[in-house]
Amino acid sequence: MSWKSLDDMDVAGNRVLVRVDINVPVENGHVTDATRIERIVPTVADILAKGGKPMLLAHFGRPKGKVTPEMSLAQILPALEAALGRKVQLLETLEAAEALNADAWEADVLLLENIRFYPGEEANDIAFARRLAALGDVYCNDAFSAAHRAHASTEALARLLPACAGRLMQAELSALEAALSNPERPVGAVVGGAKVSTKIELLENLVNRLDVLVIGGGMANTFLAALGANLGKSLQEPDFFGTAKDIMAQADKAGCRVILPVDGMVATEFAPGADHVVVPLGAGTVLDPDQMVLDAGPASIEAVRLAFEGLKTLIWNGPLGAFEIAPFDTATVAAARAAATQTRDGTLISVAGGGDTVAALNQAGVADDFTYISTAGGAFLEWMEGKTLPGVAALEG
Ligand code: 3PG
Repeated sequence: MSWKSLDDMDVAGNRVLVRVDINVPVENGHVTDATRIERIVPTVADILAKGGKPMLLAHFGRPKGKVTPEMSLAQILPALEAALGRKVQLLETLEAAEALNADAWEADVLLLENIRFYPGEEANDIAFARRLAALGDVYCNDAFSAAHRAHASTEALARLLPACAGRLMQAELSALEAALSNPERPVGAVVGGAKVSTKIELLENLVNRLDVLVIGGGMANTFLAALGANLGKSLQEPDFFGTAKDIMAQADKAGCRVILPVDGMVATEFAPGADHVVVPLGAGTVLDPDQMVLDAGPASIEAVRLAFEGLKTLIWNGPLGAFEIAPFDTATVAAARAAATQTRDGTLISVAGGGDTVAALNQAGVADDFTYISTAGGAFLEWMEGKTLPGVAALEG
């Protein structure tokens, strides 16, 4: 992959349209996790330092082409100004952006209101992209986490202006390339979470590329049940038993060792501190109809820890158990800490991303110890599936 960076662009004195992803969690009008906002600061600061005039383009939620006041970027503005340490002017309409005079461009960092208020955005409409392109001289895409969307501000625009990757986009692409395209071997992954059905393509891609695959969470139940286990009322997807078997067969053929839980924490209710027992898990396991597996047990944690010791690179996506509720976060926390220790010791490159993953690693208190934590959810998964991300492809040249 090759793409231009801000260092290759003529930024001084020019208007730079910067696609960012500040689609952050908000509760009662307040940003509850500003990570994505903080991670775009180097790009904006660099453009300003080079004498460029940034206008940020961003989406928030899924307003489906309609002006939706609850999805206004106005609620993100205070957190954005705090992170950038300067005033940001919100332009409520494209017309307002088109009417800007040179002084306004000089004064503040500009932010165009939610780009998904316009139907042309998700349609990747070229006429809409041309209207955006007319606002700037240079396009900088810093939104890796939205790069799986072929939208006007992530894809078409890159073909209409001199285009480059922002600092966060560069960091994401370098880290992910180092982890999967060209990793130091042996390379392994933790893939957890509730459902096999949402991660089939990812598992199929990974077994052909990895040396070790740790499967955890509700997904592991489906694999164990496919082998013959009766797991009571555990979360599982009988329609995907065949898929699970195929993935195990593919892994075997490709020389990828699949690690499934060998024991589990079993309870009859999913509640904080629920009574639980540790039971061995395998093809012959038979649980009571009211029992369910909520986390991997101590022998499984030890097996994962030992597997990590043999790795040089680890990719992490998804929790190993129902980590939202203690004590069913035990395996996720223990395994994350083991990976963090190896990373701190300099023996492991660890890259994590996608959905619940960052929340789980934060809960384990190790997010800062991983080599790289991606800001991406869906884009991280699509990249792990081996797909071409349209927002990245449009930057290549
Ligand atoms: C995300 O939150 O993963 C990105 O901002 C993309 O959002 P989307 O799934 O609504 O396209």
